[in-house]
Amino acid sequence: MPQWDNDLYYRFRAQRTQPAHDLVARIDLPAPADIVDLGCGGGNSTSVLRGRWPDASIVGVDSSEAMLTEARGTDGQTRWLKADIATWQPQRRFDLVFSNAALQWIPDHATLLPRLFTLVRPRGILAVQLPDHYESALYRVLLDVSHDPRWSSRMDEPRRSLTRNSLSFYYDVLRGSSEEIEIWKTEYHHELEDHQDILTFHRGSGMRPYLERLSEEEVPAFEQRVLEGYREAFPRQANGCVLFPFRRLFFLARA
Ligand SMILES: C[S@@+](CC[C@H](N)C(=O)[O-])C[C@H]1O[C@@H](n2cnc3c(N)ncnc32)[C@H](O)[C@@H]1O
Repeated sequence: MPQWDNDLYYRFRAQRTQPAHDLVARIDLPAPADIVDLGCGGGNSTSVLRGRWPDASIVGVDSSEAMLTEARGTDGQTRWLKADIATWQPQRRFDLVFSNAALQWIPDHATLLPRLFTLVRPRGILAVQLPDHYESALYRVLLDVSHDPRWSSRMDEPRRSLTRNSLSFYYDVLRGSSEEIEIWKTEYHHELEDHQDILTFHRGSGMRPYLERLSEEEVPAFEQRVLEGYREAFPRQANGCVLFPFRRLFFLARA
């Protein structure tokens, strides 16, 4: 898992938080008493939960101290907990187990998702959003550049750093144990000023494991190749802006 740079990650706070708003809007729970935000980061997704359910008891769980330090400054009412989602075993269950843009950093979803579902109380909900950009140029360009012989031998692990499964996989994994399930994809088209912004966006998240394998001297050459790929893949609009497509997968499973 990469080291998180909060400032970089949150340079695109609005774009990164929009999926949390969209997921929360579809949760049909009038007054969940206990909520957990898994991979809460700096607290942006947790704020969306707090905004909808101001009186709930909310726990934000994350493994990054830097992210949790930022989160603590956002909301004194929420309990912030440093833990690894892959092994975290709370003593109680929750009405809502929520996760926005975090579970892709954890392997083996065939084991993880059923385990997280056991943390949901009867009639409660597991609500998850994951990136689903693996067919897009954002990801293809990065993979292509990672095969450059100058660094390819160091890139096996970064190439495996994000867990990806199909919509059908998540349906099958959760449908048997859930009362009902809703599953969908949304493709956002973020308006960014230029291609450098796309690079900066990706640098703050999925590109981090790749950059961590490079020496300081190699980073500019790697990024320059990625930038060229983005210029080719994402044409400018008439006003000079770039529409940056980012598809995301969502599901709600009721216990
Ligand atoms: C992309 S950020 C998402 C932050 C926030 N939920 C949002 O909506 O923007 C992913 C977060 O997941 C956390 N994370 C990744 N793997 C984790 C793990 N195994 N256990 C706990 N947190 C983890 C990272 O530290 C990071 O803060």
